[in-house]
Amino acid sequence: MKVKLCKVIDIPDMSMKSFDITGEPVLVANVNGKFYAISDICSHAMAYLSEGELMPEECHVQCPDHGAVFDLKTGEAIALPAVSPVAAYPITIEEDHLVIEMPD
Ligand code: FES
Repeated sequence: MKVKLCKVIDIPDMSMKSFDITGEPVLVANVNGKFYAISDICSHAMAYLSEGELMPEECHVQCPDHGAVFDLKTGEAIALPAVSPVAAYPITIEEDHLVIEMPD
């Protein structure tokens, strides 16, 4: 299922934004003009990754609660205490808008 999110300019470079997509919290990050989308909920406990720290050099995000780190490209858990990945979603640009592909 494709979902149109917002205009590309609504998420400035080196920033993150959270979306609720049919009840699923999704984090969208802009790193050097490239966009990534992963689940916004940490796999360790209940925390919003979009409230954490963007690590642009590694293309990672750090959870605000206990410091787990996730790869924005794949959702892989890079650093403890999280061991499970979070979902990663394809995101594209269509006519100045970000479009995310969510599972049906
Ligand atoms: S809730 Fe994210 S590291 Fe614990």
